[in-house]
Amino acid sequence: MLWLVWPFLFPSALAAQPSAPAPISAPLRDLQFGQLNFLHTTDTHGWLAGHLQEPSYSADWGDYISFAERMREKIEAQGQDLLVIDTGDRVEGNGLYDSSEPKGVYLSEILRHQHIDVITSGNHELYKQNTSESELLHTVPNFRGNYLASNIDIHHPETGELVPLAPRYKKFTTKQQGIRIVAFGFLFDFTGNYNNTVVQRVEETIKEDWFQEAIRDKEVDLFLVAGHVPAHSPEYRAIYEEIRGLRWDTPIQFFGGHQHIRDYAKYDSKAVALASGRFMETVGFMSIDGLSTSKGTSNASQPVFKRRYVDNNLFSFYHHTGLDVDSFPTEKGRNVSQLIAESRSALQLDQVHGCAPRDLWMSRVPYPNPDSIYTWLETKVLAESLKDESRGERPSVAIANSGAIRFDIFQGAFTQDTTWSISPFTNGFRYVKDVPYEKVQLIMEVLNGQTKIISTLQDKTEPSLLPLVSPEQLAHSEDIIVDDEELPVHWSNIEMGDPHQMPLSSNKPAGKVVPGYTTKDDAGEDGDDTIHAPISFYKVPNCIQALISANSSGVPEKVDLIYIEFVQPYVALAAKFAGLDIDFAKESDVYMPNITLTDLILDWVKKHWKCE
Ligand SMILES: *[C@@H]1O[C@H](CO)[C@@H](O)[C@H](O)[C@H]1NC(C)=O
Ligand SMILES: *[C@@H]1O[C@H](CO)[C@@H](O)[C@H](O)[C@H]1NC(C)=O
Ligand SMILES: *[C@@H]1O[C@H](CO)[C@@H](O)[C@H](O)[C@H]1NC(C)=O
Ligand SMILES: *[C@@H]1O[C@H](CO)[C@@H](O)[C@H](O)[C@H]1NC(C)=O
Ligand SMILES: *[C@@H]1O[C@H](CO)[C@@H](O)[C@H](O)[C@H]1NC(C)=O
Ligand SMILES: *[C@@H]1O[C@H](CO)[C@@H](O)[C@H](O)[C@H]1NC(C)=O
Repeated sequence: MLWLVWPFLFPSALAAQPSAPAPISAPLRDLQFGQLNFLHTTDTHGWLAGHLQEPSYSADWGDYISFAERMREKIEAQGQDLLVIDTGDRVEGNGLYDSSEPKGVYLSEILRHQHIDVITSGNHELYKQNTSESELLHTVPNFRGNYLASNIDIHHPETGELVPLAPRYKKFTTKQQGIRIVAFGFLFDFTGNYNNTVVQRVEETIKEDWFQEAIRDKEVDLFLVAGHVPAHSPEYRAIYEEIRGLRWDTPIQFFGGHQHIRDYAKYDSKAVALASGRFMETVGFMSIDGLSTSKGTSNASQPVFKRRYVDNNLFSFYHHTGLDVDSFPTEKGRNVSQLIAESRSALQLDQVHGCAPRDLWMSRVPYPNPDSIYTWLETKVLAESLKDESRGERPSVAIANSGAIRFDIFQGAFTQDTTWSISPFTNGFRYVKDVPYEKVQLIMEVLNGQTKIISTLQDKTEPSLLPLVSPEQLAHSEDIIVDDEELPVHWSNIEMGDPHQMPLSSNKPAGKVVPGYTTKDDAGEDGDDTIHAPISFYKVPNCIQALISANSSGVPEKVDLIYIEFVQPYVALAAKFAGLDIDFAKESDVYMPNITLTDLILDWVKKHWKCE
């Protein structure tokens, strides 16, 4: 371990986004290199500009390109190899993707400049017809030969024919060491895709001839399974068992994602899985030593795996490459940082709509709480601005799922960028009229208290329903149910950096331990490169409700039941459970036509959060 003192770090025009905060110096754990090394991103969701209000994650995709290029120089100079992996959900969730028309045109141009050796699709690439078609027509060719789709087919937009989205697998040999690798690219057993794609269950895919042939290849030093699949999951367990059943001795390296957490799974002494967080907060690092190679097996022994979760900032990047502000950036990396700045400017993402008077948190404070984003949403945004003129003064209750909010709000400028990162979805509102208020409360109880009722109903009737809560919370749903009455719930392995970290100035102590990720995984507690102080997280409900009523003399008897259209199937199930006989398909109608939750939030901010 190395305790670094780094007195000055300027947010330079040479790297990172101009408006990004400088990283802070912090105590770091070194990377341990091996014969074969990996860098891994997942669930970037459009955050290729980095986090402009959080120093810990303030590097951009251009900096990541420089990092990969400098790492490759260093590693290859030692006769070792580097591979770069991305496991999907690159789209949806940030203005750099969502705010262009068509969506993703800038993002796709930025993304392509990173050299990626194995890249796969997530579920978000498949929700809409044109998003998956854009993968087929742009991303797959941009990463030709390296995009793998072991279990995804797509109806070709021109011929209609069902074709693989990308090759099922590939075999290649690394440049320096001559390590022979068979690589796959999977998506978990996802069922919420639009009908122009077909996702074959992982458990069926591995019984197919091509997979069986691929794992019977004897000239293989490593099986590499990249996928948008949680590190601990039945899907990866099934792949592991299938390969191990035949190849009892060959090392297997999995890379996964989807849950938005840092995670590491040990299947056996020769098979491990790494998941590398979310939103460009984390660059996952892995190394393997003790692999056989095409040049001989003399050094092959028990493989040794090392993992590290690198905080995405220049302080970490300089440290791990041994370079500095002058020697670190590559020409390509600089060009891409510039391209990101130009794209953000064309999309007007720095346009300021208002100024948040304080931080509002998704799960760092209990709910309800004056500093909870959900309390703000129900008591301010929904209560004050949800109103359809055609419904006059009728009282109403509005229901929104907590997963509709995707990120915290930080004190200070609320920009176009903030709008997209907190509320990237395009959901509007619907309503049914004259619902007894007490039945609405019963519906809320079913949606929130009785997690098991709603999930049982869902499994039986609508297996493809999307979760109501954020992926981070879902990854910890077991802890949450167990800890129902106990607050706070310590989600030790999903902790995030503190936006209050300020750039280090010369009068502050260097190498201070600041709050952030303190990951515990199957290999212990030393995975994070940056040594952080832990942060507590609190449970949030599946759904929140706002009572909107001109009537101050008590609760109304009957209300308009308004809800974000996303939750309609859940509300319909819960209503049935509450003994209501409502056909939501026929009896519901649009509330405030053409207004989405995002519009509502933005209008409220413009009206109430004036900058001084
Ligand atoms: C898909 O279509 C919608 C609606 O027409 C549009 O807003 C969006 O930009 C399109 N997305 C892509 C990736 O082309
Ligand atoms: C997909 O769903 C649309 C309706 O959203 C339907 O018109 C179309 O026929 C379906 N396509 C296939 C291949 O099932
Ligand atoms: C052989 O493996 C050991 C660890 O198992 C490693 O330290 C060493 O660098 C390897 N040698 C070569 C030439 O790869
Ligand atoms: C970087 O951009 C400059 C100016 O557009 C261009 O001439 C150069 O070829 C680019 N370099 C790389 C490595 O992309
Ligand atoms: C106002 O509240 C009173 C008392 O609960 C109730 O009787 C009345 O129906 C409410 N008015 C409306 C318009 O809901
Ligand atoms: C809503 O949008 C549709 C189509 O985009 C348009 O035809 C309609 O007039 C809009 N309605 C309102 C109330 O703005």
